[in-house]
Amino acid sequence: MSAKEIVLGVTGSIGAYKAADLVRRLREQGCGVTCVMTKEAQQFVAPLTLQAVSERKIYTDLFSLEDPHIVHTQLADQAGLVLIAPATANVLGKLANGLADDLLTCIVLATKAPVLIAPAMNVHMYHHPATQQNVKRLRQMGYKFIGPTVGPLACGYDAVGHLAEIEEIAQLALRLVRPSHAASQVAAAPMIKRSVAPARRVLKHSPRRKR
Ligand SMILES: Cc1cc2nc3c(=O)[nH]c(=O)nc-3n(C[C@H](O)[C@H](O)[C@H](O)COP(=O)(O)O)c2cc1C
Repeated sequence: MSAKEIVLGVTGSIGAYKAADLVRRLREQGCGVTCVMTKEAQQFVAPLTLQAVSERKIYTDLFSLEDPHIVHTQLADQAGLVLIAPATANVLGKLANGLADDLLTCIVLATKAPVLIAPAMNVHMYHHPATQQNVKRLRQMGYKFIGPTVGPLACGYDAVGHLAEIEEIAQLALRLVRPSHAASQVAAAPMIKRSVAPARRVLKHSPRRKR
């Protein structure tokens, strides 16, 4: 595990293929990147591609018999940053309302790490009052945003809705990522096991960390 652990959520946008480049750039900067894909994201980029560039297992299912532990809480604790790029209008709506019906949204609710969102969508989807309301609400809750920018969209418009430049997303992610809580726990594990009782460990994590 790296000291800079990023959980990268990839959602069902046409820009999802750019996630491979994002993984590559983050890794070049010394980050460990674990990708979590929504079901729809897998329509746009193959999990195998992200597995190859991240050199890590790709997580897609909330309910998995492959992992004996609880994946969403483990990844939530492991993350020094949760980055969602690209983020669909759909996932913005779910997060703004505290919904947790898949692996990615469960991780976002369960994490104490900062969350950075890079939306990408059709200009009218972005300007829709529902989306604008969701973005506003998420900002108020402390989520960070980058983009969308003005640029060529798959639907033919040259307008706002374009995924921010991958290099800029990577740079901001590097500024926001915190030392991985889980990584530091692994390093300090023998000491913690001896000195901190289980109930105390729960209490230690209880206060909501400021994003
Ligand atoms: C070709 C195609 C491109 C799409 N691109 C986007 C997009 O860029 N942004 C977006 O918000 N939704 C886009 N959608 C719609 C989403 O895929 C859809 O809302 C989906 O339910 C999102 O699921 P998710 O948020 O769980 O990944 C696209 C759909 C299609 C068929």
